[in-house]
Amino acid sequence: MKEMQARAELPPDEVEEMKNSEPVLMDDGIKGIGFKSFDIQEILGHGAFGKVFRCRLKGQDQDFAMKVLKKAFLYRNKHLKYAITECNILKQADHPFVIKMHYSFQTPDNLYMILDFCPGCDLAYHLNKKQIFEEEEARFFIAEIILAIEYIHSLDVIYRDLKPENILVDHDGHCRLADFGLAKENIGEKDFAKSFCGSPAYLPPEMLHSKGVSKAADIYQIGAVLYEFLVGFPPYYTENIKELYNSIRSAKLQVPKYISREGKDLLNQLLSKRPDKRITIEKVKLHDFFKGLDWDKLAKKELKPPIMLKGDDDNLSDNEANEEYLFMKQQESKFKDRDYNAENQLQNRLKQFTFIAGAEQRPGPQPPLN
Ligand SMILES: Nc1ncnc2c1ncn2[C@@H]1O[C@H](COP(=O)(O)OP(=O)(O)O)[C@@H](O)[C@H]1O
Ligand SMILES: [Mg+2]
Repeated sequence: MKEMQARAELPPDEVEEMKNSEPVLMDDGIKGIGFKSFDIQEILGHGAFGKVFRCRLKGQDQDFAMKVLKKAFLYRNKHLKYAITECNILKQADHPFVIKMHYSFQTPDNLYMILDFCPGCDLAYHLNKKQIFEEEEARFFIAEIILAIEYIHSLDVIYRDLKPENILVDHDGHCRLADFGLAKENIGEKDFAKSFCGSPAYLPPEMLHSKGVSKAADIYQIGAVLYEFLVGFPPYYTENIKELYNSIRSAKLQVPKYISREGKDLLNQLLSKRPDKRITIEKVKLHDFFKGLDWDKLAKKELKPPIMLKGDDDNLSDNEANEEYLFMKQQESKFKDRDYNAENQLQNRLKQFTFIAGAEQRPGPQPPLN
């Protein structure tokens, strides 16, 4: 009942105007891609706003990841615009180290993004298992992420949520930047985004000074992630948020002695408190920490990852003993939805969400369908 009320509240300017007589859209689940086009296999993860399942298009054997966002929940938390931005960015993004979106569609209740499936889990999982990366491993993975962020910036987008759990590992052991849920579009070299958002341990100091953030914020977060790769936890880490924020704002960075001189220097330049003094991506690529790295080969995926990070399918018994895992399994079996159909096709339909990679926005009823 609550959901019904929340649905009725969706902002009119975001809702698509459509007359009953218009032809059925691509996301109607009858003639187009819809919820019923997929078989859900298992849950892969969830974050603050999304739940992600492994799924298959019916009748095909390729795995995809299905990210599901609840419209009512997004709307209640004023996050609808972030979901629309995430989808918009993924529609245009085309880079070896950025997750690829194949389809997006909606039902009256949910938004769906169908993404490349990354069987190697995310880097938070691997750090948890390994504690730290060797310098050579960290150098490789952070270099791929630097190329992903450089590309994202070239689209005038800032990412704002770089952290190991948003970095996935694909079939070949390469990184894929995922989760554009906090990204912001139309940010040129001199622009700032005002919202306070992100995960506490990775927030750049300028965000805490409420000054607005620019592309330099992502460079700080590259530093925070590299620090975590090498040290095992993010810079200044403490459970006490007030203390954490104070340190991010003003404490001197402590870098353990075992980290190389080049590593220490790069961390200090990435994690500079002043965004205007922070190193640029151009200069990062020339830094001695990356000496000998062929960036062109890296960009073409011609360099092999120093370690093959694999997803977790060998220790099911550990998982079965894990309460969170059991809870997730339960959720997965309960997950159901209904597509748009002739009766409900006006209900809460967000503007221009539907997308089919390689096709026009609305090509009329054609591709791989149920
Ligand atoms: N394409 C994918 N392949 C495999 N696992 C994924 C994929 N996308 C997301 N996941 C898993 O689901 C988690 C949550 O997804 P994410 O997009 O970060 O959602 P949220 O916006 O809720 O944080 C990720 O941290 C990752 O573990
Ligand atoms: Mg996430």
